[in-house]
Amino acid sequence: MTQVEPGFYNNKDLILDEIWALLTQGVKDRNEDFRLPVVVLNSTNGPDARIVVLRGAFKDKNILRFHTDIRSDKIEFIKKNNQIYFLFYNKDKKIQVRATGTATIHYKDNLTAEAWKKTQVISRKCYLATNPPGTISKNPSSGIPEQYEGKNVPIEESEIGYENFSIIESKIHSFEWLYLASKGHRRAKIEVTDEGSKAYWVTP
Ligand SMILES: Cc1cc2nc3c(=O)[nH]c(=O)nc-3n(C[C@H](O)[C@H](O)[C@H](O)COP(=O)(O)O)c2cc1C
Repeated sequence: MTQVEPGFYNNKDLILDEIWALLTQGVKDRNEDFRLPVVVLNSTNGPDARIVVLRGAFKDKNILRFHTDIRSDKIEFIKKNNQIYFLFYNKDKKIQVRATGTATIHYKDNLTAEAWKKTQVISRKCYLATNPPGTISKNPSSGIPEQYEGKNVPIEESEIGYENFSIIESKIHSFEWLYLASKGHRRAKIEVTDEGSKAYWVTP
């Protein structure tokens, strides 16, 4: 099958819009590959990666958001070094996006209060774990209190999870975009600031 040539193939001014379209889609669409980026942080022992759910993408402010447990290792890593790196790949569109940024931890503020209200019980359940994520356990365990194992948690009882709920907000500084095409790949680097953006073609 011949690959249709998208507008951005030879026009770098269209790439940033395509990136944000995929990020925005990732926030609302479970089937969009960009919903599940790999997030890389600097641990005390070097690079440290994990998958998260993309919960917010704000083109006007160059901001990406995800939710996490305030007790997780990534919080300590961010406190020591707030540089953050995201990696996305949409298999159908053959687009890889790498993003660099700086992370801010939100805990018990207006942002977390608003987001917690909208968080479904099924997602709140992760924040009910008795021990912090990463705690060594003698037996195989979900970490969730026994009475909730395999059960729906009543909404009132899920409220306690707010104690562990945090949002990582990342201010994006640059994107590296790669588009795979049989005709010839395309790669671009885009620096983004509140004042605007600058795109460069790069050899793939
Ligand atoms: C599909 C998928 C989605 C995930 N979403 C999140 C998430 O939104 N937030 C989060 O903290 N962890 C999420 N995780 C778990 C992380 O990948 C990771 O295992 C966990 O956060 C503990 O890592 P850390 O404490 O070393 O950061 C997800 C994992 C998978 C496989």
